[in-house]
Amino acid sequence: MLDHASHIKSMKLYTHIERIHNELAELGKSTSDPLNADEISGFDQLHYHGTKAVDEAMAMMSTDQHTRVLEIGSGFGGPARHIASSSGAHVTALELQPDQNALAAELTERCGLSNLVEHVCGDFLTYPWDAQQFDTIVSWLAIFHISDRHELLQISSMLLPQGGLFFTEDMYCRAAMSDAEARELKEGMYTGYMPDLETYKKDFVDAGFEILRCDEMSNDWTEFTTDRLIDYRNGKERHVRVHDESTYLAMEEFYDLVNRHFRSGKLGGVRLMARKI
Ligand SMILES: C[S@@+](CC[C@H](N)C(=O)[O-])C[C@H]1O[C@@H](n2cnc3c(N)ncnc32)[C@H](O)[C@@H]1O
Repeated sequence: MLDHASHIKSMKLYTHIERIHNELAELGKSTSDPLNADEISGFDQLHYHGTKAVDEAMAMMSTDQHTRVLEIGSGFGGPARHIASSSGAHVTALELQPDQNALAAELTERCGLSNLVEHVCGDFLTYPWDAQQFDTIVSWLAIFHISDRHELLQISSMLLPQGGLFFTEDMYCRAAMSDAEARELKEGMYTGYMPDLETYKKDFVDAGFEILRCDEMSNDWTEFTTDRLIDYRNGKERHVRVHDESTYLAMEEFYDLVNRHFRSGKLGGVRLMARKI
C-alpha cells in the first residue's frame, strides 16, 4: 500500500494538499471552525461537475438513507459527504493516501457527518473487508489507477448482494496511444488500467455484472477540462495569493496535461452503472 500511496504522488493533483486549508482560510474559517458540506464543495471534489455529477449518480441508483455505500478512492471525501448530507446514506469512504484520508476525516468531523461517513485508509485490493456488505459501490475517477481490474471486480462482487449496483465515472483509452503518450499518462495521471470501451464493458460482464447504462463522457469532459484550464490560468493572481506559486504551477501543469490528452481524442471518459447478476 505504501508503495502505491507514495508513487501516486507523481500525479500533481495529489501534491500540495494544504491547498484545502488555504481555501478554508480564504473563506474566513479558523482551523477549528465547524463547516457544512455545501460550503466546501467548490474545492473538495476531485472529479468533473462536482456535486451535480454525484446528484445524478444518486438519482440513477435511488440512493436513500437505507443505502450502504462504499466509495473506492474517496480523495478529500467530497462525494462521500455530499451523498451522506443529501440522502442520509451511510458511506464507507476508502482512500489509499494517508494524508488525503486524514484530511478527509478532519473535514467530515468538522461538517458534523462522522456518524454517517466512515473514512478508512488502504488499497482496495488488499483491504481486509472480512464479511462487510454494501448495497452500492461508487467511484469517481479512481479505478483507472488500479491495475488489476479482474481482482477489483471479483472483490466488488464479493462485497455486493445479488442486484447490488456498481457505479463509476472513469477513464478509458479512446484511441491507440503512442508509447510517449502512454508514458506521460502513466507518470502524470498514474494510470494503471486503461482499456478500450468494449473491453471496459466486457470486463464487467465477465465478472458477472449486467450493464445498466454506459454513457460516453469524452466530449463533455474535454469541454470541462478546457474551461477548467482557462479559468485556472485566468485566476492565476488569486491562486498565487491564496496558495503560492509552486501550488499554482503544479495544478496548472496537471490541468494542462489532462486537457491535452482529452483534446487528442485518445483519452476517453465513461460513466457506467452495472448490477451484480
Ligand atoms: C481523482 S481522485 C478522486 C477522489 C474522489 N473520488 C472525488 O471525486 O473527489 C482518485 C482517488 O483514488 C485513490 N485511489 C487510487 N488507487 C486506490 C486504491 N487502490 N485504493 C483506494 N483508493 C485509491 C487516489 O489516492 C485518489 O485520492
